[in-house]
Amino acid sequence: MRIRVTPGAGTSDGGARRVPGDKSIAHRWLILASTADGRSRLVGLPASLDVRSTASCLSRVTRRARPALELWARNAASRVEDGGSTWNGRSRDSREEGSTDVLELEGEGRDSLVEPSTDLDCGNSGTSMRLLAGVLSAAPFRSRLIGDASLHARPMERVAVPLRRMGAEVRTTDGHAPLEISGAPLRGIEYRLDVPTAQVKTAILLAGLAAEGETVVVEPTQTRDHTERILTALGAPIGRRDGTVAVSRFQHAGLEGAVPGDVSSASFLIGAAGITGAEVTIRDVGLNPTRIGFVGVLARMGIRCDAEATGEQLGEPVGTIRARRVGPLTGTTIEADEMPGVIDEVPMLAAVAAVAAGQTRFLGAGELRVKESDRLARVAEGIRSLGGNALAAGDELIVAGGGLVGGSASSSGDHRLAMAFAVAAAGANAPSEIDGIEAADVSFPGFVAALRSVGVDVEASG
Ligand code: S3P
Repeated sequence: MRIRVTPGAGTSDGGARRVPGDKSIAHRWLILASTADGRSRLVGLPASLDVRSTASCLSRVTRRARPALELWARNAASRVEDGGSTWNGRSRDSREEGSTDVLELEGEGRDSLVEPSTDLDCGNSGTSMRLLAGVLSAAPFRSRLIGDASLHARPMERVAVPLRRMGAEVRTTDGHAPLEISGAPLRGIEYRLDVPTAQVKTAILLAGLAAEGETVVVEPTQTRDHTERILTALGAPIGRRDGTVAVSRFQHAGLEGAVPGDVSSASFLIGAAGITGAEVTIRDVGLNPTRIGFVGVLARMGIRCDAEATGEQLGEPVGTIRARRVGPLTGTTIEADEMPGVIDEVPMLAAVAAVAAGQTRFLGAGELRVKESDRLARVAEGIRSLGGNALAAGDELIVAGGGLVGGSASSSGDHRLAMAFAVAAAGANAPSEIDGIEAADVSFPGFVAALRSVGVDVEASG
């Protein structure tokens, strides 16, 4: 599906809008609810494709929770098909997206997981595959995790190595999915991550909940800490100090909470508003400090975000972000040690950089080459196709800035590229076409309607 974006000054109706629930948090809460001993009630799970993948995989390894998980995944799918999808984008109001959805399920504890009768299909979701690998490593049966072509191209040894060391049998296919796991009694390990990755950290911590002895993960740079926060909220024996997280065996009880809005999704609306000169307010959005690194970067580029916490959900701060452009957009340098805090926002920041004055450099960004696509190469290519100038070399991305002539770019099936190119196009000098916009449903169903709501002129185009 292709959209045509016509640049123009953004308008704002002054209303506060919401975005779908946070994908990272939703994966973790769903997994922990399904392995809890007791009843859980989760509100505001996003209907995004990735989260539905986790729910359907979990439905295949649970018994009492299965009907609720299956029903939730089915309802979420029809909610998206019936107008919440990005591409059919009938003017569903993004303020309401995800707000009424409740999943209640009965967990029977981690030890009651059952052998799946089919492969577990993680779709496009690396988080589903890596996190589930951690849980299944302790389950006394065989499981096989598969996904789409993009997921099968992503590195899986990074999660297999520590889980093998803990005692599980984990087979990759030349370092990739399919991933075959034979769970076993696990022992705690101390493991130093060589790349900063929250997915691998989480897989080890989830396995550590079932392991004999203490499991310690040492991170070179802080990555998102949603797992640590929810485990603390659940009363797990978890210790955190100076880049080290330790956990011991623990069976948690059920959980109740409302998933905060996804600040990564919100960042695309903030980038669009910053580019077009509109003001945007997003409420009920997650404000976890390990996720809002982009706020500091945008401030250096001329877009100011004021964040105000209004509450907390299971250890996650939630609140309102109000964003507006406060000066001319200018380029900046994003240092390597800032990278884990903006890892999912690089495509959006590159979109702003393309229409800013002066060069922007993203340093130490090599991990982006192994995301849903080679995001360094594809972002640079997309900016060039929209009539700008950008270059990916080694682990750096350099965006020349100075504006975009307009053109046509493809998402390459990557949700964050679909959204970033639509945002960049809003600041071009002439209309542009973005191909493959439906990929946005992976994390942000309703993206096109949400983009229109901040004043961007978007039409379906063939
Ligand atoms: C995620 C961690 C990040 C991020 C991904 C979600 C998570 O990946 O890019 O979108 O939920 O833990 P890495 O851990 O591979 O950096």
